[in-house]
Amino acid sequence: MEERLQKILAKAGIASRRRAEELIRDGRIQINGQVVDEMGYKADPARDTITCDGTPINLEHKVYILLNKPAGYVTTLSDPQGRPIVSDLMPDISLRLFPVGRLDLETEGALLMTNDGELGNAILHPSFEVNKTYEALVTGSPSKERISALEQGIEIDGVRTSPAKIRVLQRRKEQTLVEIIIHEGKKRQVRKMFQAVNHRVLHLKRTAYGNLRIGALPAGKYRVLTSDDLKKIFSGKIPFTIKNIPA
Ligand code: URA
Repeated sequence: MEERLQKILAKAGIASRRRAEELIRDGRIQINGQVVDEMGYKADPARDTITCDGTPINLEHKVYILLNKPAGYVTTLSDPQGRPIVSDLMPDISLRLFPVGRLDLETEGALLMTNDGELGNAILHPSFEVNKTYEALVTGSPSKERISALEQGIEIDGVRTSPAKIRVLQRRKEQTLVEIIIHEGKKRQVRKMFQAVNHRVLHLKRTAYGNLRIGALPAGKYRVLTSDDLKKIFSGKIPFTIKNIPA
């Protein structure tokens, strides 16, 4: 079936519609060997060979998306209880993408979605020690001693957590806003860590994977990541080859 070129590129996860238009204007897209650098072209992905920088686009293409997950969405591919799921927020993307590190229903913020299992596993595997940064609003005013206990590692569910880094961002009347950096991803880890020192997490947002920050991306919106973005996750060098991403 014929579709507009920028829609095909967006659906294949190559780029957002706007970025797809830029790729077209820059002459980086070809249909059956011919550069197409004007808007309005249509193609049939089942029949035509569409390339970006000479690399054919197909549904095997690896896609990396950073979503700003709002509270109230579940990080699963389907939900038997019929609650909203994160893929509802990406109607343009028809590929099956998996979340890299779940966020609780009520947690907000950075959620990487990809069909690249190797990259997903590397981010989650403790050996790569990819930091995940969270902002947590907690009850009360955690003392220096409690913060230090959390930083050194604390027992949750019978297992000691790895060292964490904590920074107090703002002390309010009966609440404190803290930044916590961990590289593990145990279930409800941040909530359980603070619970273990008698502070309840009232609001939780993941703000970064490594040095890839959620920044000004609005809640509920996503952006397609470039290879430079992926490098930021691993602080420079990606530990394996990534193909087919337009820079
Ligand atoms: N820690 C939590 O407690 N919840 C999350 O969603 C992520 C990390």
